[in-house]
Parts: sequence; structure tokens; C-alpha cells
Amino acid sequence: MFPRGFAWGAATAAYQIEGGWQADGKGASIWDTFCQEPGRVFRDQSASVSCNSYELWEEDLQCIQQLGLTHYRLSLSWPRLLPDGTTQNVNQKGVQYYNKVIDDLCACGISPMVTLYHFDLPQALQDQGGWKSPAIAATFGSYARFCFQTFGDRVKLWITINEPYICSKLGHEDGIHAPGLQEPGTTAYLVGHNMLQAHAMAWHSYNTLYRAEQGGMISLAINSDWLEPLRPGCTEDIAATERCLAFTLGWFAWPVFVTGDYPEIMRRAIDAQSKKQAYDGDSRLPTFSKEEPAVLGTADFFALNYYTSRKIRAGCGTGGISMKGDQDVEEVLDPSWPISGVSWLAVVPCGLRNLLRYIKNTFNSPVVYITENGFAQVGKLQMEDVQRSEFYRDTIQEVGKAIQEDRVDVRGYFAWSLLDNFEWADSYSVRFGLFHVDFADTKLSRTIYRSGKDYAKIISKNKCMGKT
Ligand code: GAL
Repeated sequence: MFPRGFAWGAATAAYQIEGGWQADGKGASIWDTFCQEPGRVFRDQSASVSCNSYELWEEDLQCIQQLGLTHYRLSLSWPRLLPDGTTQNVNQKGVQYYNKVIDDLCACGISPMVTLYHFDLPQALQDQGGWKSPAIAATFGSYARFCFQTFGDRVKLWITINEPYICSKLGHEDGIHAPGLQEPGTTAYLVGHNMLQAHAMAWHSYNTLYRAEQGGMISLAINSDWLEPLRPGCTEDIAATERCLAFTLGWFAWPVFVTGDYPEIMRRAIDAQSKKQAYDGDSRLPTFSKEEPAVLGTADFFALNYYTSRKIRAGCGTGGISMKGDQDVEEVLDPSWPISGVSWLAVVPCGLRNLLRYIKNTFNSPVVYITENGFAQVGKLQMEDVQRSEFYRDTIQEVGKAIQEDRVDVRGYFAWSLLDNFEWADSYSVRFGLFHVDFADTKLSRTIYRSGKDYAKIISKNKCMGKT
């Protein structure tokens, strides 16, 4: 079902696995700070040690090889490389660490996909306004150039920013992710805008300075649920579903893939609400100016993180000044969908196929990499994690159908995650790994789950069977 050369991968992120939070000159990130604030994270835990991949990388590599992955998606810790966030101060030990990881992968024939930013902003930059400050775009641009220059001879797949939606909303609207700001209806839009600028700067640098020589591809990872109207024939629910898609997937995909601007539905809703609320300014949604780098066309492929689906019904206009108020929709779980360990993750494999078809039709048949997809376990440890195994089998089958029957140009699939790790505000209570990590054991030993063994079988079977 899968074309030859299909990327079979697993993904991780620096803050979630590396530990070594102060090792060898690393600077603090906003997650280091956030975890120190009581009440922010489950049991006030942190990822100061986590899987200690900073010291135990070779064990991770063994896990990667045991699965038979062709690709591994990792992220670089910006403050490990540049402790104060700027290229004026480079931490050579950090460079050495990632050089070793990348070299080891290449030596084993595994291609790295590298994310520049996965939620862990240098605290020094947060102190200057973080993602709220328009200056961040140029600072990110320099960081990106530094990474292309340093690692781009070996890295051919780049992700600039992971899930700008989650960073903007959870970090700046809901305050449940670092930096923990709760500034509803304003800051998230500003942060999203600055993230798009930062991404565009990085893409343009790559395009003009590095592409010819390095020959890689670069994109940003956009997360989206699959959404359907709760009452299929109801015009209000259909409109609400379109609105919700515009505010999530469309917020970042529309400017990059379609128009260079936010989706019209989103623009209209926020402008109208801002006016009604006599907002001090034109609109709470920023506008793209001619002075800013062009955002349209700044993705060489569509990087999609998919976890779950939702039914949508029209809201009742009571959200006030907030993203929820602007969208005015209610999300509902279909009672027929099984729930994984975490309440938000309903198991809907066919939602991914639907979403892939939607992406093909809406964004002009892009090349797609599924950069994250996974299943959470909570509570009693189950090494025989049959449910997760079935989840992967069923979801991968849907990806196969999207390729074969719907002709979506999917080039790769990355399971989230290689290892159990620090699951943000839920810390270690939620396990997403294909390998179990024993956090109570000082050796942090890694043991393959049943789902890991089954994923390895899927990979080995499809690697051999793939047609050109
Ligand atoms: C994504 C995120 C990952 C991981 C995953 C599971 O939003 O990129 O870091 O935590 O969710 O919740």
C-alpha cells in the first residue's frame, strides 16, 4: 500500500526527552521556568531529567534501530545551542551533542527530520517579550540560519515551528502551557502572527542561501483534528464546522498555502467581534503588511500532526472576548468513539483519511508528511498495549487508503512517540511511547511495548513490499 521510499518514523521533542536542563552551558527555556512554578504541571514535576536522552542518546538509537525506522524526527533545543537565544553566544557542547545524534543516525542509514522549535523558547527571549514581540521573527531567523549552516549538510527535512496553534492558544490564551499567559482573544493571534513571520523568515533564508547546496525541504507542523458537523444537514452546524476549521487548520495553512492571508471566515468573525466589543484598535487579528516577509508559498510540503476528531455544533454567542467567543462553536465527542488514556484523544482512525483528503482538495495536492500521530496510556502500566497497537494498525491502514484510493501524496508517517516522555502539563502521568521508560529506575531503562513490536512488523513488511 505504501510507495517505495515512504518514510517510516517516530518523533520526539527536545524538552520532553533530553533532560540535562543545565548541562554543559545550556540556557533555561520557558518550560524550565514554567515547571518551577507550583501548580502548573501535574505533581509539580519537570523534565529536568526525563528520559535523559542528553546522556543516553545511544540507547535511543538502539530503540530506533529495533523498530527499523527509516526516519527519526527530533527537535533541537534552542537554549541548548544558543543559551541566550542569540547567535552571539553559541554553546559548542550543544552543537557537539546534535552533531553526534545526526551523525549516528546517518551512519545507521536513518534520515533525520529536524524541528527547530518545539515549545521550548529560551527564557532570555521570553524576558524580552517572547513570541509577543515582533522582534522574535528576526531572532528566530538567525537561529534557523545557524542551524541550516551547522547541520544542513546532513538534514534534508526541516520543520521550523511545531504546532503554532498549540503554542499560541495553550501558552497565551489558556495559560496551560509555558509561558502560562492567559490573555484571551488578543495575544494568541499576535503570537500566531509572529510565528508565521518567524517561519517565513526561516523558509526564505533556506530558499535563498541553502537550498541549492543542501537540497532539503522545509515546512511548519500544523496540528488539526478532523471536524464534522454534529447534525449533518443543519446549516448552522455546517457553518460552525467551517469556522472551526478556519480557526485551527486554516489559521496557519491558509496564509502559507493559499492566499498569504488569514482565512476570510476567521478575518470576518474577529473583525466583527472586535468592532462590536469596541476594541481599541482595528481588529484583534493582526494584518499582514508589505514590510513583512511574504508568507505565501513558504512550505515545501504539508506537515500534519493528527490525533483525533470532533463533531461541531454552532455556539450560542456567549464566549466574550476570547478565541472561543470569536469562533462561537461547541466541540462534541461522538459517543461511539473509544477514548484513549486521555480524555481529549478519541480514537478515530478514519478521521485522518478524511483530513488528508480535505488537505489535498483545499491546499492544491501538496506532498504530505504525517509528522505526529499517537495514542496515550494512563494509569496502570500495560506492556501488552493491544489498544495502542490496534490504533496504529487501523490508522496506518487509513493512510494507505488515502494514498491508494484518494491519491493523496503522503510521503511519510511519524508515530508519536519513540519513548514515554514528559507530556507537558500532564508530565509523566500520560505515556505515548512505543518504548516504555522506567522513570523510577535511575537507569531509565527503555523496554519495547507490544505496540512497538507490532509497528516494527508493519514497517518491515511495507519497506519490502513498497512499489516505486
Ligand atoms: C502534540 C505535541 C507533542 C506531544 C503530543 C501528544 O501536540 O507536539 O509534543 O505532546 O501532542 O499530546
